[in-house]
Amino acid sequence: MDIRQLGHTLVVGLQWGDEGKGQIVDHLSGAFDLIVRYAGGANAGHSVVVGETKLGLHLVPSGILREHVLCVIGNGVALDPEVLFEEIDALAKLGVDVESRLKVSDRAHVVMPYHKLEDRLSEAALSEGTKLGTTARGIGPLYADKATRTNAIRVHHLLTPDVFRQRLVEIVDRKNRIFGALYGADPIDIDAILERFTAYAERLRPMVCDTADLLHRSMEQGKRLLFEGAQGSLLDLDHGTFPFVTSSNSSACGMSAGSGVPPRKLTTVLGVAKAYTSRVGTGPMPTELKDGVGQAIRDVGKEYGTTTGRPRRCGWFDGVATAYSVRLGGMTAIGIIGLNVLSQFDEVNICVGYEVDGRALDHFPCDVDLLDRVRPILETHEGWKQDLARCGGWDELPAKARAYLGRLESLLNCPIAAVAVGPERDQLLVRPS
Ligand code: IMO
Ligand code: MG
Repeated sequence: MDIRQLGHTLVVGLQWGDEGKGQIVDHLSGAFDLIVRYAGGANAGHSVVVGETKLGLHLVPSGILREHVLCVIGNGVALDPEVLFEEIDALAKLGVDVESRLKVSDRAHVVMPYHKLEDRLSEAALSEGTKLGTTARGIGPLYADKATRTNAIRVHHLLTPDVFRQRLVEIVDRKNRIFGALYGADPIDIDAILERFTAYAERLRPMVCDTADLLHRSMEQGKRLLFEGAQGSLLDLDHGTFPFVTSSNSSACGMSAGSGVPPRKLTTVLGVAKAYTSRVGTGPMPTELKDGVGQAIRDVGKEYGTTTGRPRRCGWFDGVATAYSVRLGGMTAIGIIGLNVLSQFDEVNICVGYEVDGRALDHFPCDVDLLDRVRPILETHEGWKQDLARCGGWDELPAKARAYLGRLESLLNCPIAAVAVGPERDQLLVRPS
């Protein structure tokens, strides 16, 4: 894969998030002019390294560290100004100027304090087993309000003080009645919100524009766009493991709606998967390992959430679920992250099929109760038992590691273009073309 030859490209997670999309985006971003977020919000989390400092970012695209890149928060993103300005300030302290290189869609919807409150209240009120295990960033309530329309606040509303005030008064009145009746919650302090968000609006104003128009003009000028997916395909609201999903179209399917760029503009869709599986929050995960092996993956892979710090559930690579995502998004190539994490094992397993009540399933089911009951059919491969950290290139990978990757390719029916043997920039091995 020669990244200088790529046209407009989408990078998307193939599992339940945290696949290491940031490492692929970081590798590609030097060759692109604009980096675009199209779905999700501050529920996403990626770490970037600035000098000696490691920083967790949720909203600002990771490409912000490349000085020539213009970053775009598209219309499909849940924009949380509080988180955004915290990140902008943290980056400014490290000498990274964000405000001159970030554009925010006037059509994006604004996460308000009552969305985060509702996320917490609603999760707390659910019984064990039905809780979604959300990140408590207000994502579900925000997108629900977008869909109801009457309760929505878009960025352009925020920038028009009279409109914002009027909408806020009406919405908060409705929220107070609902939260009071359902959860016995205290009334929301509207004056405090008005004051804070009026200040946010003035700080946002220079960054706000019609980002779809900006993207179209940029394409006409020959600039290249890189779309940065958040979450993963299996957390997609329509195509994931509903209801244990996020509230936006986080698969490749969401790119066009969330950015205003027509699907046919994309030439490349890169899927990112870990060499194993992780999931944070509740919901089915057929290959989950609740034993020492799962713990060993978690320890070596440092599988703890960037957004919530929760330990992630870990298990073997799920060839059925991942192949489903590859087909759904029409991947042109795949990046496999964290191969080094499996180096510790004498044997590694790959899930090559599902079985329910003794019968093989020939598809990835939409029924999560069924998915909870499936037994993964595991195929055992000999481990390579070799530290991969200093592998200088694809050709230096041990034969058994290459055989493992070859099996993933055949299951996914898609070529693997790169593999990461550690989190550092020089640990991403790109396959010679
Ligand atoms: P990145 O971009 C992993 C999960 C939550 C929960 C479910 C719903 O880092 O890959 P939400 O707060 O979105 O309503 O939570 O989705 N989730 C993620 N898991 N990585 C993410 O993002 C996630 N964003 C949401 O844990 O199970
Ligand atoms: Mg993450």
